[in-house]
Amino acid sequence: MNAFPVEQPGDLELVRASYDRVADNYVEMNLGDITAYPWLRTAIDGFAAAVRELGPVLDVGCGPGSVTAYLAERGLDVSGVDLSARMVEHARRLYPGQRFAVASATELELADASLGGILGWWSLFNLPRHILPLVLQSFGRALIPGGHLIIGTHMGDGEIERTEAYGGVPVGWTTYLWQPAELWDLLAAAGLEPVAELKVSESVAGVPSLVLVARRPGENLR
Ligand SMILES: C[S@@+](CC[C@H](N)C(=O)[O-])C[C@H]1O[C@@H](n2cnc3c(N)ncnc32)[C@H](O)[C@@H]1O
Repeated sequence: MNAFPVEQPGDLELVRASYDRVADNYVEMNLGDITAYPWLRTAIDGFAAAVRELGPVLDVGCGPGSVTAYLAERGLDVSGVDLSARMVEHARRLYPGQRFAVASATELELADASLGGILGWWSLFNLPRHILPLVLQSFGRALIPGGHLIIGTHMGDGEIERTEAYGGVPVGWTTYLWQPAELWDLLAAAGLEPVAELKVSESVAGVPSLVLVARRPGENLR
């Protein structure tokens, strides 16, 4: 049993159904292609170099798996998990050599100190503000000392209520925008220390992007 259960978001099934509906367009529009975003790609490359020797890496909210596969190509022992079964179906079809599972970031039973790296790459912005801290705490516990977490997300204030996305597909989700200082506070409360911060002014979906990298303190003893 999980000693630190995370509250499930009230809109989780709506968010799941929405991503199931947009998954085909997301793949068709090649939106997970990290190579289309040079600055974001640089952050992912840095993360890959930092965690390569540290053990398994989990891509939480992997979508159709393009970043998971990108990291696998760079020698990481990486797997992906996503809320949307349709996204995972695409990931398994596109990258049959990789491991993918269906689950919410809020229901992962991650063993303590079991992962060298975790990604929340444009996949945590639908989590309500009172739930994200709990998810980050679960990530903090799951990292080995020296292990890294990378978050990519939309930067700003307030929320955006989305009713359509990715080519006019009807959806129902809230995009929570974050300022770096707010996220750093949550990461510190999760026991993680800052490594890197990247702000990109023109980026994903017309909203400025924010990438934060944090690590669990302590030397990796492996
Ligand atoms: C914008 S896509 C990004 C996908 C992928 N990380 C990429 O870069 O292409 C957002 C993804 O987050 C997933 N997601 C949203 N809420 C989630 C949750 N609570 N747990 C796991 N995945 C979630 C969605 O299903 C979707 O695949």
